[in-house]
Amino acid sequence: MELKKIQSPYLIVPGNHDSRHEGYKKFEEFFGKRFFVKEMEDYRFIGLDSSEPDIDEGRIGRAQLEWLQQHLSPQSVVFLHHHLVPIPYTGRERNVLVDAGEALKILDMHRVPLVLSGHKHVPWVWKVNNTVVSTAGTVSCERTGSNQSFDIIELNEKKVVVEKVSIKTKNKQKYEVEI
Ligand SMILES: [Fe+2]
Repeated sequence: MELKKIQSPYLIVPGNHDSRHEGYKKFEEFFGKRFFVKEMEDYRFIGLDSSEPDIDEGRIGRAQLEWLQQHLSPQSVVFLHHHLVPIPYTGRERNVLVDAGEALKILDMHRVPLVLSGHKHVPWVWKVNNTVVSTAGTVSCERTGSNQSFDIIELNEKKVVVEKVSIKTKNKQKYEVEI
């Protein structure tokens, strides 16, 4: 399995394809909880499950949002599969979280500095009030062309620096955002 080659610690949340056909049960079997808190270094990493079996749109849901509120702090990094804000160059918007408004309000209230997501396969960075929202490209799918990329992220109390590194060209797109 490719994930076994990764040497550093990694955290995994399910996407829409993982939850299909009862896949969310297999996900728990292979990777553990679908949403969780993990303290690492000076930050609290909070993984959310935004997937719903057999549909592509994202939803966190009221129960998980309440759970999130109980665990959030200004030292939190929140990550989930679906994007919270529409991403340009991805066609008509269809799959943004159905409860994105509630989620953004909660993240803003708790002054969360960084939210990481994926799903659209197009790398992008938004800042919503004081929260940096970074959407990853895709690391393994060659069909996405120049969007085949990975992120290198630095975070401190003053700013977030996101470097989106193209796998094909090795070009780096750097976003430096004060928080
Ligand atoms: Fe997805």
